[in-house]
Amino acid sequence: MAELKLPFIGHGGDYNPDQWLDRPDILEEDIRLMKLAGCNLMSVGIFAWAALEPREGEYDFDWLERVLDRLHENGISVFLATPSGARPAWMSQKYPEVLRVREDGQRNFHGGRHNHCYTSPVYRRFVSGINRALAERFGHHPAVVGWHISNELGGECHCELCQQAFREALKARYGTLEALNKAWWTGFWSKTYTDWSQLRSPSRVGESCIHGLTLAWRRFVTERTIDFLRVEVAPLRKLTPDLPVTTNMMEMFEGLDYEQLAKELDFTSMDSYPRWGGPDEEWTALCAAFNYDWMRSLKQKPFALMESTPSQVNWHDVCKLKKPGMHVLASLQAVAHGADTVQYFQWRKSRGAAEKFHGAVVDHAGHEHTRTFRDVQAVGELLRRIDGARGAMPQARVALVYDTQNRWALSDCQGPLRDLKYLDTVLEHYRALKRLGLAVDIVDQTRALSGYQLVAAPMLYMLRPGAAERLTRFVAEGGTLVCSCFTGRVDEDDLCFLGGFPGPLRALLGLWVEETDALYPDERNGIRMADGRRYACSTMCDLIHPETAETLGSYTDDFYAGESCVTVNSFEAGKAYYIATRPEADFLDDFYARLVHNAGIARPVAQLPRGVQAAVRGDMLFVMNFNGEEVRMELPEGTDILTGLTAGGRTGLPPLGYRVLRLGEKR
Ligand code: GLA
Ligand code: ZN
Repeated sequence: MAELKLPFIGHGGDYNPDQWLDRPDILEEDIRLMKLAGCNLMSVGIFAWAALEPREGEYDFDWLERVLDRLHENGISVFLATPSGARPAWMSQKYPEVLRVREDGQRNFHGGRHNHCYTSPVYRRFVSGINRALAERFGHHPAVVGWHISNELGGECHCELCQQAFREALKARYGTLEALNKAWWTGFWSKTYTDWSQLRSPSRVGESCIHGLTLAWRRFVTERTIDFLRVEVAPLRKLTPDLPVTTNMMEMFEGLDYEQLAKELDFTSMDSYPRWGGPDEEWTALCAAFNYDWMRSLKQKPFALMESTPSQVNWHDVCKLKKPGMHVLASLQAVAHGADTVQYFQWRKSRGAAEKFHGAVVDHAGHEHTRTFRDVQAVGELLRRIDGARGAMPQARVALVYDTQNRWALSDCQGPLRDLKYLDTVLEHYRALKRLGLAVDIVDQTRALSGYQLVAAPMLYMLRPGAAERLTRFVAEGGTLVCSCFTGRVDEDDLCFLGGFPGPLRALLGLWVEETDALYPDERNGIRMADGRRYACSTMCDLIHPETAETLGSYTDDFYAGESCVTVNSFEAGKAYYIATRPEADFLDDFYARLVHNAGIARPVAQLPRGVQAAVRGDMLFVMNFNGEEVRMELPEGTDILTGLTAGGRTGLPPLGYRVLRLGEKR
């Protein structure tokens, strides 16, 4: 695998000179402004296909060469994009098969972006053609440091070519129709398939009730996307084996299994658009951190923050401006959690079309005398000072299992609640761990767990082959595991485990679950702990029978008041906890604080005020205040990277303020 080698923390953004080819003055001004803003890395050519191949087979690359030359002369590096995220009109017109077909069987018209069939041999031919040509011409250009593949891969196609490929994938997976029918429980409602040709993708106007089918389709969509990605990447790997490859991923995206996709990439990259300025800034900051931790954990490597906005987006319901200080803080947060670049969508605002009011480093005013530009300059300066963090990885002793395929299964699940709140549940457990200042890896259930001391795996409804064994070994070897309600219900085809939930985790957790009650949105039950502390809980309540597990807390209400709700099972050298419901935040805060203390996991900062995040990379401690008010807190001693002076002890952090301390020793 090729490595991303940047001699600096990357700073820059999506750059679309193709929109300004008739304005050489603007292109020249861009260079001056990039240097002024402290930018050193641009992503060039995303969505530029119409300019790169204006007519079939006629490549016009000269403009791109001039752009790359000028950037290089000025010390600015480039992620060169493949243009496949949108295609020229001539292509759709002449070869309609390149366009996507919806689940109702209708083919889309030309339009939008990402509107292509990833099976179409014609589209594959065009993509590998232009990618090869780009690699031949620019693969060894001194400005180019990596490939930016397409853009935000996602979506699905239901055309006949894709249906055929789906059937082939099903044959490969199940071998016989008999095995498939069994795995999908198709006897229910007379859905038995008697010929492979009867199989089709799930559809709102067709079959949507076979959960095994839906899961198989979602897996297929990821496999197809990867298959297409391989076509994209093949000429690049061949001609430029030393250039690393990435594609930009999305926040909490569930359309693809990123765990699989990441295996195809040399480094991960992501687009981050937190809703800053909303009603709960701690939660917003938490979601952002979760995504960064996820991106870093996918490859256990630093990632690129490929896009963020320097001011506002144009697609949230309410597009808030970033308050003074927020841009620097938000950029710092990404680096603190493992980003080796801070990049923007976009360098310069387009004059027209869909994104003309999306934030950019250079506004329509066209000069540097704007608040946003000064904010970007400030980030450029800060990144130079924290360059020592580049390449470093936090040493996480804690992993949180967030599993995209489990999310798919839960979103199909009918009962006991319409919305089972998987994502909220995962984030609530994450919040408790972040409030303790811990480095947290976000892993799925296929990952090895041996390096961790504490693993939280809330609501692991679907257990795929090997997962229960890995969790069991982790605990047997001395680990601490936390599971929560609605765990261990189905296998990877969505067939329920027989013989008592949580199925293959029953011995490890030392209990079985007989029933699960659902609560109305405003309804609460309560948890009373053995020491008398009481907490509220919501959403659902498993009614459990401890077998070898010990009861730590019980329900306070309803006909199951007094029954076990929180348990621990000592299992060989470790402990497995079960929280049978969805507890309020205070419960999780207290619960994890105790577990972390018992496991002897070091915390970089003893007490974090609410809304303050801490993260360590290499020998740098980042402390970030997302509150609108000043906070005071105790910090360890270190050298403040801004002042060069010894700092620490009792410290005040202004609203949206931060400290970066170089600690004496690496943690
Ligand atoms: C995404 C896309 C960009 C742009 C931004 C706007 O991340 O990748 O092309 O549309 O959103 O926020
Ligand atoms: Zn298709």
